[in-house]
Amino acid sequence: MSNQRITIFDTTLRDGEQAPGFSMRTTEKLHMAKQLAALGVDVIEAGFPIASDADAESVRMIATTVRGPVIAGLARCHAKDIDRAGWALQPAERRRIHVFIATSDLHLERKLRISRQDCLDAAVAAVRRARQFTDDVQFSAEDATRSDPDFLWRTVEAVIQAGARTINLPDTVGYSTPDEIRDFFQAIIGRVPSSDQVTWSAHCHDDLGLAVANSLAAIEGGARQVECTINGIGERAGNASLEEFVMATRVRSDKLPFVNGIATRQIYASSQLLSSLTGEPVQANKAIVGRNAFAHEAGIHQDGMLKDRRTYEIMRPEEVGAPQATLVVGKHSGRHAVQRRCELIGITLERRELDAVYRAVIEHADREKIVTDADLVEIAGRLSTTSVKPPTYAMPDFNATPAEVGYGHGV
Ligand code: KIV
Ligand code: ZN
Repeated sequence: MSNQRITIFDTTLRDGEQAPGFSMRTTEKLHMAKQLAALGVDVIEAGFPIASDADAESVRMIATTVRGPVIAGLARCHAKDIDRAGWALQPAERRRIHVFIATSDLHLERKLRISRQDCLDAAVAAVRRARQFTDDVQFSAEDATRSDPDFLWRTVEAVIQAGARTINLPDTVGYSTPDEIRDFFQAIIGRVPSSDQVTWSAHCHDDLGLAVANSLAAIEGGARQVECTINGIGERAGNASLEEFVMATRVRSDKLPFVNGIATRQIYASSQLLSSLTGEPVQANKAIVGRNAFAHEAGIHQDGMLKDRRTYEIMRPEEVGAPQATLVVGKHSGRHAVQRRCELIGITLERRELDAVYRAVIEHADREKIVTDADLVEIAGRLSTTSVKPPTYAMPDFNATPAEVGYGHGV
């Protein structure tokens, strides 16, 4: 059986941008949207046009300029939201209106203060109105995973009859566990009579750090669209990270028989661009794109990497467009890595000299944390009788300092 295609719906410019510290100007959003198109996402959720004039202008600018992905705009189930989204998306080659309303009793009673019937009626009316602007209408049942399943499936069936093409069941507050999400999708898809007429979508938040695991579980349960963001940004703890979801399905294709259209070599550039546009650094240990994601400091690990990279590397950095793996010379490094780094920068050490240089390097690392190539030249020059050449960067396998190989410098 051929692998199932997953639609990648990127919401960096909507859910992501809505998080504190991540706001972007129109020109910056346009820049990011072009990069998302180069990355190969299927859908770009460009914004929430009713939220502000600037948001509406950004969506319209992206809809005018960016070709390739479907351009989506978010709207509540209100006529004015939908009309605004319809206006903003009008220039797009392919446009999607994404309408949403909460379906959990908690949200209906305490936030919206409407009945279940009001909710269902508003959802149906919104989908019908959105269909006047485009055939591609997505409906989201906010807080779906905490909604009464019976009410949820009836609402979903009603919006499908009204013309929705994609049904998104968000885990809005990141409350679910992977087995629950898988069973939840299976159960709702099983109950909805017209389930085969739509694409099912997962939108998982990361409040418990489970957004990517939950998205993977959702596709096992029948979802075929995953909503995600670059660097996992989004409301509160964020959304499922695009790069983690995509690389999990690539690296573990033996367990996860799903494909997508992402050009993985554009991942690192996308992450760095977002970081430079928003001024928010990527967490150092962030999977796939953090500056330590391909760095090895412990001596045992460095020794393994030098003998066979597969010992500590499950994907090559170049697969995601990241700089070469780094053997960081620090206080946990072993003799082997120090010797190798010295060789790469033109220093050949006798065995006895290596011992002395190694001890000095570890002492230096204890004080300074990082040992640069310049430090190595100085230490080796002081302790060895060999003539020490200045560092050359011709074709090094590994580098002493992550900063020197371009981490954190934007694209
Ligand atoms: O988290 C959520 O429920 C949302 C919806 C608007 C899709 O972001
Ligand atoms: Zn969300």
